[in-house]
Amino acid sequence: MFNLFKKKKEEVKPKSYLPLKVREVVKETSDTVTLYFEQPEPFLEYKPGQFLTVILDFDGKEQRRSYSLCTSPYVDPYPGISVKRVKGGLFSNYLNEKIFPGKTINMLAPLGHFTTDFHSKNQRHFFLVAGGSGITPIMGILKSVLVNEPKSKVTLLYCSRNEEQIIYKKELEKLSAANPDRLKIIHNLSQPAESWTGLKGRLNQETLQPFVAEAQLETDFEKEYFICGPDGILDATLEVLKKFEVSKDKIHRESFYSAAADKAHEEAVLGHLGGLTREVTVELEGEEHLITVSPDKTILESGLAQDLNMPYSCQSGLCTACRGKLISGEVKMDEDAGLSDNEIAAGYVLCCVSRPVSGDVKVRIE
Ligand SMILES: Cc1cc2nc3c(=O)[nH]c(=O)nc-3n(C[C@H](O)[C@H](O)[C@H](O)COP(=O)(O)OP(=O)(O)OC[C@H]3O[C@@H](n4cnc5c(N)ncnc54)[C@H](O)[C@@H]3O)c2cc1C
Ligand code: FES
Repeated sequence: MFNLFKKKKEEVKPKSYLPLKVREVVKETSDTVTLYFEQPEPFLEYKPGQFLTVILDFDGKEQRRSYSLCTSPYVDPYPGISVKRVKGGLFSNYLNEKIFPGKTINMLAPLGHFTTDFHSKNQRHFFLVAGGSGITPIMGILKSVLVNEPKSKVTLLYCSRNEEQIIYKKELEKLSAANPDRLKIIHNLSQPAESWTGLKGRLNQETLQPFVAEAQLETDFEKEYFICGPDGILDATLEVLKKFEVSKDKIHRESFYSAAADKAHEEAVLGHLGGLTREVTVELEGEEHLITVSPDKTILESGLAQDLNMPYSCQSGLCTACRGKLISGEVKMDEDAGLSDNEIAAGYVLCCVSRPVSGDVKVRIE
């Protein structure tokens, strides 16, 4: 049944928001800070590798961005996020410049599937590939493996611009010294100083191949691959894993930003300008709502504009916060990088990048 008295966003706002008070601000590098938060009551429940959604008002307009938790719930007493500046970026510069201990920031509770469950009996080899700020979720996972799975080991291949830009450099050195047999860290620098003797240049398939080959030869360890970084690093790693026929359920990936997704979104808006305006049914918390979706808007944009309190975070098809199941009809996604093949096969869609292409579209937000 359609709900004629739609919930206004404002009515549900306070319930779904999680205010977190900043406890400490740590400058990691010249362009990255870590914000640690006081534990809320009850303590924040999260899985290593998940992200928080930061909610800020700019000029009276609420905006959101996703930031991965860099901490481990098994190790760190306080949850934290690390934010690297993006040139001209709204949130990343604000969070680097304007946040101090005592300030409270509204969030959404942790979300995300870039994670795993841990068990002390497991004997796994975690092969982690990180680029720049992509180290944040990887750091939470790395620390969690070391403390939860004594028989498992970790290889971290970490790409930064130069030595000064290596986020968590000291913490990684300490972890490595404390776990010499279980943690191997390989740094790859794209613009190193002349004195640098390690891997250098952009990470490519040739650089990666020997490390993956070595890991794949091991028979005692079950392998898990986690990749988080810019498109170039992600694509190169996925290509190498494909060559070695690594099973897809062992590959976990997360993107913070995709230039390709940005472009696809722009093109989709232009391409749909001459299209049809359609009615779409969105099922949210068990109630059905009929919304009107014009050709230049996604289902999420239209739902929000029509006061539906639909979940979302990145709004660029990467984080899956807006995931829904297509119950009927057909949609076109501008980008589906956030979804696994299994999720796509099961009929999941990302509302922030989905546009209806048939008349009977119904999406259930689960
Ligand atoms: C699941 C998830 C987890 C994330 N975790 C982290 C994290 O732990 N740490 C972190 O620093 N960031 C993280 N991000 C990225 C973060 O959400 C923001 O996108 C980023 O901080 C830029 O936001 P902004 O408001 O500063 O820039 P905006 O104002 O949104 O963008 C400014 C301009 O920069 C471009 N742009 C945006 N991001 C990038 C980028 N990364 N590289 C190049 N150009 C870009 C935009 O297209 C735009 O033109 C994560 C993103 C996702 C989806
Ligand atoms: S809001 Fe992040 S994928 Fe849609």
